Amino acid sequence: MTTSAKSNLRSPKSKRHIRPVHIVGTGSYVPDRILTNADLEKMVDTTDEWITTRSGIKERRIAPDWMCTSDMAVEAARRAMQQAGVHENEIDLIICGTVTPDMPFPNTACFIQHKLGARHVPAFDIEAACSGFIYGLEIGQQFIASGAYETVLVIGAEKLSTIVDWQDRSTCVLFGDGAGAAVLRSRSEEHGILATCMGANGSQTDILSLPGGGAKFPASKETVSARMHVIKMEGKEVFKNAVIAMQTAAEEALKKCNLTMADIKCVIPHQANLRIIDALASRLGAPEEKVYINLHRYGNVSAASVAIALDEAAREGRFQRGDLILLVVFGAGLTWASCVIQW
Ligand code: ACO
Repeated sequence: MTTSAKSNLRSPKSKRHIRPVHIVGTGSYVPDRILTNADLEKMVDTTDEWITTRSGIKERRIAPDWMCTSDMAVEAARRAMQQAGVHENEIDLIICGTVTPDMPFPNTACFIQHKLGARHVPAFDIEAACSGFIYGLEIGQQFIASGAYETVLVIGAEKLSTIVDWQDRSTCVLFGDGAGAAVLRSRSEEHGILATCMGANGSQTDILSLPGGGAKFPASKETVSARMHVIKMEGKEVFKNAVIAMQTAAEEALKKCNLTMADIKCVIPHQANLRIIDALASRLGAPEEKVYINLHRYGNVSAASVAIALDEAAREGRFQRGDLILLVVFGAGLTWASCVIQW
């Protein structure tokens, strides 16, 4: 079965939520250390030219050994909360999208809660790979729209450098570390998050995975020597599925709000590969100037990618209050998601 965004569509009638939900603050954090393509040339058999032409990536950030995913998440969260004017005591729910939790358990959101000094509110992780941040936005918005919570903190955070195979030139050049966050709240204005779309296709779990360390292949000397604790990827298959799934997800979200690409001020796609983004933009009819790209500086930061890009695009003034923006992501699972927001 090919990937199709047969996701849980709300009917057009129900696209307007009970309470409008807004992103009232964003923040991001990347570690200081930069690993350039020139550095990688000294580590594996690759060239700056190959990495740039095949992926668009020029450099990525690498966190120091002592820094956990939750540490980067907390920095991003503090910046989002500061921009939103929200105190940690006001947070009602913490959601963290990550494939690189500090530990298999407890969940990373619990570490974040404690490090932030937040109240003993619910805190959990979303494991939807690169789609984790938008999955988190959708979950957070449902809790606010229903009236269950007032303020939700959604984070995408990754320390991918700990699961990259630094001997595999076909993957190690693509990934980096960092975190992005958003604070969600209800506001009286009608705009905010207008539509979201999420989907998954579990028939292709094998094309992008980290097979070792779970219940199927518990950690052992054998799994370590078989290099089962690092990223395995069939690049071409992932590429093909990413373009199709993101196009379908983006079109579904636009359709739910009766919008077209012409209405959108800024498209913020998952930052995995420039060629994937170019193919997606061309299929969506999105001109270059509408598409936000920062992957040349950070590489693919999985769940953190779109969260960092959203924060940077907002701070750079790529859209203003009232403008329509489209987020669209794709990741292992396979998973995908999209979101239309009136800023
Ligand atoms: N440097 C030099 N040569 C390389 C490198 C490298 N870093 N990596 C691979 N090659 C070689 C290969 O060995 C191959 O050589 P061969 O023809 O002699 O066998 C040649 O380059 C072509 O390799 P391909 O894999 O066919 O290259 P492709 O054009 O498909 O690009 C890439 C590879 C960049 C991985 C691409 O397939 C891609 O971006 N796929 C999607 C990856 C992605 O987005 N993943 C994450 C999405 S979801 C998530 O974020 C979790």
